[in-house]
Amino acid sequence: MPYASETLLRASFFDITALAAQPDDIAANARYLEDGLLTLRDGKVVSLESWQIAEGRVNPAEVTDLRGKLIVPGFIDTHIHYPQTEMIGAFGEQLLEWLNHYTFPVESQYHCPDHSAKMSAFFLQQLLSNGTTTALVFGTVHKQSVDALFSAAHQLDMRLIAGKVMMDRNAPEYLTETPEQSYQHSRELIERWHQRGRLSYALTPRFAPTSSPALLDKVRQLREEFPDVWMHTHLSENQQEIAWVKALFPERDGYLDVYHHHQLTGKRSVFAHCLHLEDKEWQCLHDTDSSIAFCPTSNLFLGSGLFNIKRCWQQGVRMGIGTDVGAGTTFNLLQTLGEAYKVGQLQQYKLSACEAFYHATLGGAHALDLDDVIGNFNPGKEADFVVLDPAVSPLQQLRHANSKDIWERLFVLMTLGDDRNIAQTWVSGKPVWQRESEEQIA
Ligand code: GUN
Ligand code: ZN
Repeated sequence: MPYASETLLRASFFDITALAAQPDDIAANARYLEDGLLTLRDGKVVSLESWQIAEGRVNPAEVTDLRGKLIVPGFIDTHIHYPQTEMIGAFGEQLLEWLNHYTFPVESQYHCPDHSAKMSAFFLQQLLSNGTTTALVFGTVHKQSVDALFSAAHQLDMRLIAGKVMMDRNAPEYLTETPEQSYQHSRELIERWHQRGRLSYALTPRFAPTSSPALLDKVRQLREEFPDVWMHTHLSENQQEIAWVKALFPERDGYLDVYHHHQLTGKRSVFAHCLHLEDKEWQCLHDTDSSIAFCPTSNLFLGSGLFNIKRCWQQGVRMGIGTDVGAGTTFNLLQTLGEAYKVGQLQQYKLSACEAFYHATLGGAHALDLDDVIGNFNPGKEADFVVLDPAVSPLQQLRHANSKDIWERLFVLMTLGDDRNIAQTWVSGKPVWQRESEEQIA
């Protein structure tokens, strides 16, 4: 008999049960249960087993029957900017002009706690309605932006990592601070939010061009004082940006060395983009066990370049997928995986559905050093997952019916899927988002 507090869900399930060192290793640990039973207790996974094995011991009246749906681990977005939600899809510019024309003015509004609270609620609803249960998030330079986001995420009991932007130069005066202010405000936020419930703090220097050596030294100091916090920044996204970093830091041996010199590489350091790395930079990311956030829609939208997935595996560097909203053009990880596939195609790399779902779940968890708590349905993992509707439109239904196996169905989901396919999103063992009704999306 199940415990009174247990939740039992019957559906199809897909997850990857172990980390992989090479893409060819992933399929061996892929688990697909056409008819399975997931048991949850106290917000955690108790077991995932085939219905046939579980059937005899459970009372059917206690089982929530979701047959026809496919349940996968919650998606993990390893790089996103919540204050850029309202400027997603801004026309015409590449990185540096895009920042000046669109991004900085929008971010200035987050000095206002009410605006921050309103946009935090909207942002978290966007994540959940797209099946994303964990994200690594940029705030703005204002500490109130991060207070608002953490309070909203805390109420939902989401596993979220975020931090206030740190920047002290090469940005409008209304968005810059002194290194000392940056230190004090970041420290206050760490003390208030880090490891509170499921929340964690990431030190967030925007990128090298908006950081003086004195500011980077404050980031280093905070990391020394709080060794279990994350570090989150941008690296090697755009050719003009790279040339600018080299001009600003002539004493350093390239872009990554600016961060490495300040001891900002390492486990729990996540670098977004990494499109134009030199050999020594790949090596340094590997040697320091740093992570990369691959952001395909952003890289295409800003014309930044093509991420080298194959090289990343060869170098043994941790990697997850980021949407990078608002330079990225969707919150939806299915669509983002579809674009990642196209980035691979342009470089003769075949991103299989199995590999793609790995990056969006367990691989992303590994990139965030959270693979001990999220990323699959192994016993004890936190119960964050998505109930997918495998086919919601006439075209998807036709294509789904014409798919021979789970691999083809997953590939079609990442090629044709979007937020219409997200039927429910569960966080800590509870449904926190549900699509209103199938009629409404027809
Ligand atoms: N580099 C520095 N800031 C940003 C940002 O907000 N978005 C992106 N894509 N790159 C950046
Ligand atoms: Zn970004």
